[in-house]
Amino acid sequence: MTALPEITEKKRRQLNKAFPSVPYMEEVAKKRVPHFVFEYLKNGIGDGMAAKRNRELLKNVQLLPHFLSEHDHPNLKTTLFGKEYDAPFGVSPVGMASLIWPGAENYLSRAAHKHNIPFTLSMAASLTLEDCKKLAPDNAWFQMFAPDEDIIVDDLIERCKREEYDVLVLTVDSPFPSHRAHDIHNGFSVPPNFGIKNLIQMLKRPRWCRQIVKEGIPQFANIKPYLDAAKEDNDNKPYVRESTQFMADKVGLHITAERFARIREGWPGKLLVKGVQSPSDAKTYYELGADGIIVSNHGGRNFDAAVATVTLLPLIRQALGNDVPILVDSGVRSGLDVARMLALGANFVFMGRPFIYGVAAMGEIGGDHVMNILKTELQCALGVIGSPSIQELPNYLFKHNK
Ligand SMILES: Cc1cc2nc3c(=O)[nH]c(=O)nc-3n(C[C@H](O)[C@H](O)[C@H](O)COP(=O)(O)O)c2cc1C
Repeated sequence: MTALPEITEKKRRQLNKAFPSVPYMEEVAKKRVPHFVFEYLKNGIGDGMAAKRNRELLKNVQLLPHFLSEHDHPNLKTTLFGKEYDAPFGVSPVGMASLIWPGAENYLSRAAHKHNIPFTLSMAASLTLEDCKKLAPDNAWFQMFAPDEDIIVDDLIERCKREEYDVLVLTVDSPFPSHRAHDIHNGFSVPPNFGIKNLIQMLKRPRWCRQIVKEGIPQFANIKPYLDAAKEDNDNKPYVRESTQFMADKVGLHITAERFARIREGWPGKLLVKGVQSPSDAKTYYELGADGIIVSNHGGRNFDAAVATVTLLPLIRQALGNDVPILVDSGVRSGLDVARMLALGANFVFMGRPFIYGVAAMGEIGGDHVMNILKTELQCALGVIGSPSIQELPNYLFKHNK
């Protein structure tokens, strides 16, 4: 397993100065990633209202400091499914991350391993689930959309079992192909329809082009075994078209009780349902055997009328009670945001875009730096309010009417 490069004290100081928080990374990432690819990463669907709500409402969550208590070394560690993690946050699955910054999944899984936090590999990644497990042996989780052919679902589950994954994340919030106007306009549709404009945008980003040459053309590595047959019948079509068409055709399914039960029966490990957006769905999936729920609206990328996860989280916590693991993502950009979500009742907090901004801005060492910054910000939040640990955070939530 390749370790991440060592960072000298001097380099660390430079990084801290250039990138003291995630928005600084986003700004630089924008200048290093081709325009149409950056829009694919950053934009929410439609008018971007769901993505905006995620941020705006989360930023409004307030915590009450207690200055009489003194806790100089707040504890960030937390245990989930019997494993202790060094911090209560992890990496959400990001499909085609290696198109945004080639090598992204490789860099981020190694960083997650170093920081001992979960890394969720997307089914639509360029890194195979087998290779990911080598890079982050105790920290890799696998995310699956459920393809419409049981034989493929069964094989993916078999592969996860063979590689001894502990956690499978089943995404349920993409039951219908989404209509992302900006991506369609940019030629970033599925299947892709790149044109001369895209080529020019790529050539304007020489670092990104060099990175593609270094890491190779991104592809859907996890579904490759299921495409070879189609490819043999279809030699004159580019491979990428086959694989993106596969994603478009086969993964837009409603995860009904029957489909869920089938997956639950086949998967002996922990099963998390990602993208839950209603208390009643959360309750039903839990009763059907989910080990936990990830409250997520896909970062506002799928449905512009989606409710902000910060609004849903307390409702879903109330519906499930205190003992069910509830994880959350969508709109989290800082360690303080992580503290806010924990105060609202989450057991663990995930992020998608911030980690990708990090690697796009800084390359291989980017994931490590984002994780350091998030930890620092979270430590500061706990330190200021006087919370000894992340578990105590709900006691510091400011409730307006009480
Ligand atoms: C570019 C991009 C691709 C994504 N691909 C997937 C995916 O393949 N599977 C999935 O479950 N979620 C996917 N998501 C959603 C993320 O897992 C996560 O829910 C979302 O990014 C959280 O919002 P945040 O980016 O504001 O942190 C994707 C998100 C982005 C930004």
